[in-house]
Amino acid sequence: MSGFADQIEPLRQAALAGLAAATTLPALEQARVAFLGANGSFTALLKQLGTLPREDKPAAGKALNLAKVELEAALTARREQLELEASLPKDPTDFTLPGRRRSLGRLHPLTQVTEDIVRSFRKIGFAVADGPEIEDEQHCFDALNTPADHPARDSQDTFYLGQPVASAPRTLLRTHTSSVQIRVMEKQPPPIRIIVPGRVYRRDNADATHNPTFHQVEGLYVDRNVTVGDLKGTVEFVFRELMGPETRIRFRPHYFSYTEPSFEIDFSSTLTRKMGKEWLEIAGCGMVHPQVFENVGYDPEVWSGWAFGFGIERIAMIRYGISDIRLFYENDIRFLRQF
Ligand code: DAH
Repeated sequence: MSGFADQIEPLRQAALAGLAAATTLPALEQARVAFLGANGSFTALLKQLGTLPREDKPAAGKALNLAKVELEAALTARREQLELEASLPKDPTDFTLPGRRRSLGRLHPLTQVTEDIVRSFRKIGFAVADGPEIEDEQHCFDALNTPADHPARDSQDTFYLGQPVASAPRTLLRTHTSSVQIRVMEKQPPPIRIIVPGRVYRRDNADATHNPTFHQVEGLYVDRNVTVGDLKGTVEFVFRELMGPETRIRFRPHYFSYTEPSFEIDFSSTLTRKMGKEWLEIAGCGMVHPQVFENVGYDPEVWSGWAFGFGIERIAMIRYGISDIRLFYENDIRFLRQF
């Protein structure tokens, strides 16, 4: 027995040294085959166990088993270490390289145009006002002197909410931002200088120039002795800021129930000429109707004012040369990142 037992320890040490010395995975595999493979030297020792005298087998078997477990553990540990080393980049990390930049988003073109409009009006003393998108007929139509048979009140044009109840005012999605004129005047005495950017809703089928949801900017100015000249000068100032300094505007007579006289505003600039037109219609406006002042409790003999409303999409389309309004709402990043 002693001869056999004496062979275990040197072989164990040789095998441990051989595994530790392997510096690559193929070299480690070679070492494994040499000691633990089917024809390996440690395996040969295991095979001899059967030939030992019976009384020597337990001690020799125990020693061999311990050595085998130890060698297999050493093999696994070395393999994991070499695999890790192989997976690491060959070149050292360069900590002076610039970091990866996060790509920045940007404002939607409609938001950009709205902010530009607001900025221009702020320069001449206007404040931004806001109102609800779910309105009642009183603020959207009646107080604006819009008669019951006016086409804007037709259920074909307007999103009414729920069934009409006799005791409650009928509600709807506001068809224009003009309703906020009424809300502001009800809450505060003159003078008033506000603009109201906001979302409006109409039962329009979507096409290149229509969408059931779009945006408007309303303006309202109320003071003593306000004239059409004030209105024209203000509109001209803002449009020159928005569309370029050579922009011209003109007023054409029109009809709105909440203004008298009423006008449509056309403008002319290099942008309109680019679209093949000298004049493009851009907004509605007029002098606030005395009945509207009466409806909010202002004395029309004392107060005068003007109001206007225009569509933000239309301005953005002319400004950027966009031919289809639906592009604004698709959130296609290829479209949005151009602005
Ligand atoms: N509310 C009108 C529309 O939606 C636009 C408008 C016209 C607003 C004349 C006004 C105004 O304040 O005076 O088409």
